[in-house]
Amino acid sequence: MRIVYVNGQYLPENEAKISIFDRSFLFADGVYEVTSVLDGKLIDFMGHMKRLERSLSELKFAFKPDIDQLLEIHRELVKRNDITEGLVYLQVSRGSAGDRNFLINKDTPASLVLFTQRNSLIQSTLADRGQKIVTRPDIRWRRSDIKTVQLLYASLLKTEAYAEGADDVWMVLDGFVTEGSSNNAYIVTHDDTIVTRHLSTDILHGITRQSVIRCAAELGLTVEERPFTVAEAQNAKEAFSTSASSFVCPVVEIDGTKIGTGTPGPIAKRLRQIYIDANRATAL
Ligand code: PDD
Repeated sequence: MRIVYVNGQYLPENEAKISIFDRSFLFADGVYEVTSVLDGKLIDFMGHMKRLERSLSELKFAFKPDIDQLLEIHRELVKRNDITEGLVYLQVSRGSAGDRNFLINKDTPASLVLFTQRNSLIQSTLADRGQKIVTRPDIRWRRSDIKTVQLLYASLLKTEAYAEGADDVWMVLDGFVTEGSSNNAYIVTHDDTIVTRHLSTDILHGITRQSVIRCAAELGLTVEERPFTVAEAQNAKEAFSTSASSFVCPVVEIDGTKIGTGTPGPIAKRLRQIYIDANRATAL
């Protein structure tokens, strides 16, 4: 049985408890991070913690995370659950004021929950065969840059995509792709330029995205941060997505149209390998 962390305690998962009045339960008033683990070490931990601080500050949480303490908890959970490859999920919610109330009480202590997931990340059948994507309108609230636990739309879309025989969804706002249900979206043009939407409040500022853009520069590839349409993606040479849980994952089909040869492209495959090698070397 997993050992999880809840508000200062390490407990077996079936003994861990959160109040029914917790604001993340009643109002989705919580933010989260997912950090991958390779060789028992945390990938880009500091990047995830910087984004956590940003999410908390954008939502005006009084809670100020102690990053050294969070590193300690991450490591302890990895150790206690014997995770060599997988994920650590962290959630901070605005806590429970003992009742349901739309008004936020700034004195309510935040609640902090962490747990691990054992996953094969490097060996991935999805990355080997490439993802089939369907597109849907992006009707999320317009602060997609904050990593809140308000994931219902993404979850509904992904479930719908699966029911249609696809693997995931890319969302489209005013004719341009924003991002995937839980990943950032990219295309590779016929002159080998990587295109991904620029940072704004319309997408999550992916930690993997930041690292992959650096890897691309090291490979001598040009990266253009600008919006692209579904039609441009369907005519691209390659497409792929990035996230902490899937690294770089090739896309082979969008709304029934094959991308390039219809198999994972060489640039996506190369970036996946370079990303893994570079981040393994600097894992904490
Ligand atoms: N999702 N966009 C969205 C909407 C996401 O939910 C995520 C991450 C990303 C990629 O961010 P990063 O590279 O920092 O993981 C982009 C995580 C993995 C999840 O919800 O499980």
